[in-house]
Amino acid sequence: MSKGIFISKVLAVSISVVTVSAVASVVAMITIFQIQVENKPPVRPPTPPVTTPETTGPPPNMRLPKDLVPFDYSVFLQPYLYGEVTNITNQTFEQNIGFSGESTVKFKCKKATSRIFVHSKDLNVTFMQVTDVNGSNIPIKEHMFHEDGSNFLEIVLSKRMKTSSIYQLHTKFKGEMRDDLSGIYVSQYQENVDEKRRPRFMVASQMQPTDARKVFPCFDEPAMKAVFRITIRHRKPSIALSNSEARGSPSVEEIDGETWYKTEFFPTKIMSTYLLAFIVCDFVPKETSSLRTTVSTYARPEAILAGHADYAQSITGDILSVYEELFGIPYPLSKLGQIALPDFAAGAMENWGLITYRETALLYEEGISSTFNKQWIATVISHELAHQWFGNLVTMKWWNDLWLNEGFATYISYLGVDKVNSSWNAKDLMVLNDIQSVFQVDALATSHPLSSKEQDIRTPADISQLFDSITYSKGAAVLRMLSDYISDSVFKEGLRSYLNAYKYSNADYKDLWKHLQEAVDNNQGEELVEAVMNTWTEQMGYPVLTVDTISGNLSQQHFLLNQTSDYNYLWLIPIKVMKAGGKVRDELMRKGSDSKSAFIAEKDEWVLANVNCTGYFRVNYNQENWQRLLQQLNNTHSEIPVINRGQLIDDAFNLARAKYINITLALNTTKYLSNDTEYIPWESALRNLEFFILMFDRSEVYGPMKAYLRKQVSPLYNYFENYTLSLTVPDSHQEQHNQINAITVACSNGLPKCTEMVKSVFTNWIDDPVNNTIHPNLKSTIYCNGIAMTGEKEWDIVWQRYQDASIATEKDKLRYALSCSKDIWVLSRYLSYTLDAVKIRKMDAVSTINYIARNVAGQSLAWDFVQSQWSYISEDYGGGIMSLGSLIEGVTQRFSTEFELQQLKQFQKDHTADSLSSGIRALQQAIERTQANIKWVKENKPIVLDWFRGQAAESQGF
Ligand SMILES: *[C@@H]1O[C@H](CO)[C@@H](O)[C@H](O)[C@H]1NC(C)=O
Ligand SMILES: *[C@@H]1O[C@H](CO)[C@@H](O)[C@H](O)[C@H]1NC(C)=O
Ligand SMILES: *[C@@H]1O[C@H](CO)[C@@H](O)[C@H](O)[C@H]1NC(C)=O
Ligand SMILES: *[C@@H]1O[C@H](CO)[C@@H](O)[C@H](O)[C@H]1NC(C)=O
Ligand SMILES: [Zn+2]
Repeated sequence: MSKGIFISKVLAVSISVVTVSAVASVVAMITIFQIQVENKPPVRPPTPPVTTPETTGPPPNMRLPKDLVPFDYSVFLQPYLYGEVTNITNQTFEQNIGFSGESTVKFKCKKATSRIFVHSKDLNVTFMQVTDVNGSNIPIKEHMFHEDGSNFLEIVLSKRMKTSSIYQLHTKFKGEMRDDLSGIYVSQYQENVDEKRRPRFMVASQMQPTDARKVFPCFDEPAMKAVFRITIRHRKPSIALSNSEARGSPSVEEIDGETWYKTEFFPTKIMSTYLLAFIVCDFVPKETSSLRTTVSTYARPEAILAGHADYAQSITGDILSVYEELFGIPYPLSKLGQIALPDFAAGAMENWGLITYRETALLYEEGISSTFNKQWIATVISHELAHQWFGNLVTMKWWNDLWLNEGFATYISYLGVDKVNSSWNAKDLMVLNDIQSVFQVDALATSHPLSSKEQDIRTPADISQLFDSITYSKGAAVLRMLSDYISDSVFKEGLRSYLNAYKYSNADYKDLWKHLQEAVDNNQGEELVEAVMNTWTEQMGYPVLTVDTISGNLSQQHFLLNQTSDYNYLWLIPIKVMKAGGKVRDELMRKGSDSKSAFIAEKDEWVLANVNCTGYFRVNYNQENWQRLLQQLNNTHSEIPVINRGQLIDDAFNLARAKYINITLALNTTKYLSNDTEYIPWESALRNLEFFILMFDRSEVYGPMKAYLRKQVSPLYNYFENYTLSLTVPDSHQEQHNQINAITVACSNGLPKCTEMVKSVFTNWIDDPVNNTIHPNLKSTIYCNGIAMTGEKEWDIVWQRYQDASIATEKDKLRYALSCSKDIWVLSRYLSYTLDAVKIRKMDAVSTINYIARNVAGQSLAWDFVQSQWSYISEDYGGGIMSLGSLIEGVTQRFSTEFELQQLKQFQKDHTADSLSSGIRALQQAIERTQANIKWVKENKPIVLDWFRGQAAESQGF
């Protein structure tokens, strides 16, 4: 899955209600069934009783026993949904729309047993039958739905199945489709019919990680791979899509006076259940056929007609070819479908052969969508296509190694994007987007190692919690480090051999190390893959390397914001080091302390460690070296690689937070920025100053701080001013990013030029949206600053435009801008809209609340709202994976007072683990962060206030 603001999914842990009633109906059905069976003569004499005793009770760890191994499913599904409703009242979200289905799974018995465990959740199983390879029925003695969160349906047979024999389980079942964005669900959108917007409905699906069991009873674990033969019966004139190609056109069936289509699909490759996809819709494709693979992009007919899928379609084939070359294995399916869903919880999902996306991650409109939207689309497609190999072809054995899937897809996506458009310098941006951001989370004592222990990941909630930034971003960061350490070409060679060895099968990270080590050995390398990597994957956190450039001594320590926690972790650290104008050297630091001549500085020379941040660690230096580096930044900053200018700032601020260095040293790293126009250093500084804004925007520090930022950003604003005034953008992609920083920082800190510009542009746009000539890149910041400067009337106009917008990328900009109001009551009303899926789609609710919380005027409103609506949010919000966590993180970011800490602790007390669901860890982290913030503000406020005042005084020539 692709995350970001991206992943989210329902984690309604409420298995009970539906299953309890399901048991009742199943009991009735099975009774009837057994009566019928008893009337038949037995086909064969009963097998003699086996003497080895049966184990009893549910399997430990909530894992499927390995006694039975499925290999072939036939699944039939029939959703009772109309795509178009003439009489609108007969199909709404309030009504439960159902589906029915049948499934036959063939499995091999590896160890004699009389009990079958499969997963089944929220399904009414109305029929069950077990037969052996001759078709003889094996009577079912009893069955039960386990209510321990395992989602097990246990079927006890009247006799044991024999080792090495093949059996099949046939079930019939009914389920509900809601708009909860998990399992198979209903999505609604609008389409123009005769000049009117008319509601349309569709069926979409999302199985990862554990919701295939909501669609049909199955062995729902990633290592239980099988072939799937899918058939979907759907109402005319809709189309049905699944992982593989349909066998010809659908057949037509008349049932109770209604016309249905039946679409049969070719058998899939051997694959995991979480990668299945089922769609019924009225969409149309944009299609391109190459020699082996047909690439199709589906979307709302209006969007296809308007060409919104053209960009995605144009890059998909290219990225696919790049990966085929990189991995040395052709994409194994005959088709690759991708579809833009109006309602989708994650950013995208890599279902094999039918990738699902949010509209913002797939649809692009020239002139309306920004170049950042374009880059995002390329990134998400690259991520999902990488999964077709990493995840789909070779799958992790169990969810504890999820990082193998997600870390790889995240890392590889940068290589894919780079091939699509090398001028974006996508690979450099990984340092900002993944490394710097995950450094924040991984510096907490409540972080966790990349690799979890298998036995620690049992329940669906455990699994969902793993879809976090550690898994995605740290996973990507350590793979990038490894690739650099053993060299990109050796890394590639090892990957190819790993993929080949485990295709259509499962692997864990030890398997990967083995193949990478073989590649190293084949190339006469001396690097030790497993020894080095285990220190990064099995321990949480990361080190801070302290360099003494006088002695060349190196030491390392687990970097924690709160240094009093001590785990005594040590790492083997690959380090790239350089000196002024000198060449880069590679070193490996042993565990504990070390000493190397490469780190000794001559005379006035500086030393820079972790060149281009290829390593996943921070660096601290002796005072002299820090001063020399600052001097270099002030003199000729280009002598220091641009990524490292960002690193020096980010490391300094975080080292100061953890009290390794003075806060004034960190602030001093931003002084040279008035001369730098590059994006990476600016963005690094702004993200760190963001923390100062969050801590101080309710205090007297904020005035002098704004004055300083105004002064620093002024030259940058001027640098882009010609573009900005003509509402256009520079050519370079990174400059485009930084132009937005210039406007955002200038306006939010009250640079008069900027606020005047925004006011006039925004007013023009309010008055005349048709001739709106604002470049799409500039819209977000101009809309937001405009809303902040104006009142209710403008807000209502923008709200209307939000509702009318037909492309999701534009909608998202407007939705964000609406959160920028300074009117408390307007924000409060906006918060309440997030409870109404017609106003704000469920998938957007969490990010909308977080936007409001980011606004100082909305902070406490958002927190009150989350507390009071928690039960609704946690159960029915399209929440789940990631989003409960990101919600808690979002609304508590500013927390830095005792009062706020008490509120958090109270919240924790008031809720059970069950109701906190996947938000548990985020809540612990919020408490830890708040404690740290309280302490930090107490210790630093006077110093920071002085420093900002001093800067203001300097600039006024006092
Ligand atoms: C499941 O069975 C119960 C009890 O028979 C019934 O109330 C419920 O509506 C059924 N659900 C579906 C989706 O058929
Ligand atoms: C550091 O990154 C820059 C920009 O991507 C690149 O040009 C340079 O070669 C890299 N340096 C090293 C030592 O890898
Ligand atoms: C930075 O450089 C400018 C001239 O380029 C100089 O006037 C100033 O003193 C320098 N500041 C520091 C802290 O070295
Ligand atoms: C730091 O960690 C110690 C020990 O784990 C703990 O007692 C203390 O409360 C923490 N301080 C903060 C500010 O989190
Ligand atoms: Zn993914």
